[in-house]
Amino acid sequence: MRTPRTIITCLSEESREERDKAIVKNEKTGILVMKEAIEKIRVEALRELSEAKDERHVEDVRIRYLGKKGRLTAVLKNLKELSPEERPLVGQLSNELKKELELRLSDALRRFLQKSRRDKLSEERIDVTLPGRCLSLGSKHPISQVTERIVEIFSALGFSVAEGPEIELDYYNFEALNIPKHHPARDMHDTFYITDEVVLRTHTSPVQVRVMEKHSPPVRIICPGKVYRRDSDISHTPMFHQVEGLLVDEGISFGDLKGVLTVFIHQMFSPDTAVRFRPSFFPFTEPSAEVDIQCVMCRGNGCRVCSNTGWLEILGSGMVNPAVFRMVGYDTERVTGFAFGMGIERIAMLKYGIDDIRLFYENDARFLHQF
Ligand code: DAH
Repeated sequence: MRTPRTIITCLSEESREERDKAIVKNEKTGILVMKEAIEKIRVEALRELSEAKDERHVEDVRIRYLGKKGRLTAVLKNLKELSPEERPLVGQLSNELKKELELRLSDALRRFLQKSRRDKLSEERIDVTLPGRCLSLGSKHPISQVTERIVEIFSALGFSVAEGPEIELDYYNFEALNIPKHHPARDMHDTFYITDEVVLRTHTSPVQVRVMEKHSPPVRIICPGKVYRRDSDISHTPMFHQVEGLLVDEGISFGDLKGVLTVFIHQMFSPDTAVRFRPSFFPFTEPSAEVDIQCVMCRGNGCRVCSNTGWLEILGSGMVNPAVFRMVGYDTERVTGFAFGMGIERIAMLKYGIDDIRLFYENDARFLHQF
């Protein structure tokens, strides 16, 4: 049996001697038996404590030795067998043991607590000298950036943003825009048909009609959004983006159209960009014009990008055809208006000098991070 190395006593030397003398005097009365029992408890409790592996063990020792049903309490139950003079002696002895054990128990508990705290700290240790991990931030897609810039410019001119469905009725995509069934103008559109009457919209112009059906003049809107055509090459993707514009009021003239689009181009590109309006045809406008800007690559001198013409076509426009106004119930005697439509990818390609439209949709981070 291993005896504990240090024995903590709560009594001074003198009182200990006195007590022992009293015990010796009462040797025959059974006090020695109890003294031995208490000493045995002490030795065994301290041994168990010294072998305890964790807090649970310590608590277990406390319960088994000092608890209500513990060994010390059991011994003290025999106190009544002793004479009245003997009782305080044994009582003192057991109190002394109780105090000693409590001290040792709380010592042991503290040690385990400190140890588990140390273990936890070293387990959770972090190396604060390691370099931090950078969050890699994405950037706005160039198409989103250009769309936002277009919206910003037209907002400043008093236009609001309107939206419409990408899955569109044939009626809004064509009929109401003065493109009846079997009209040759439909051939320009390479339409994805879902049914005979439902298409993926081929342009954002149908939003004009939807807005005019709901609102009476004056109307001043732009409609950015996705459009779809069965086409794919260096300058076409089956999905791309357009912005439609529409302004209707009393007394709107072709001069207003020229003024608004010239302001837009000067803000989008640069204030000294030359602009040209070239006669064209769209079923929903009359007269119609295509708008060219001086080539941004060669400044009008002629290059590969502008096919040596010095000009780049950037949008279609015109005065709203009265046939369209009639479809939505507008009074063609009272109001006139202009409309325009442009491909956002084309604007972005010209603005940033990108020569292949497919780059926008390959999601190559090296490309996208440049904007
Ligand atoms: N919707 C035409 C297209 O996709 C573009 C366009 C031309 C829109 C003239 C217009 C316009 O509003 O007046 O090619």
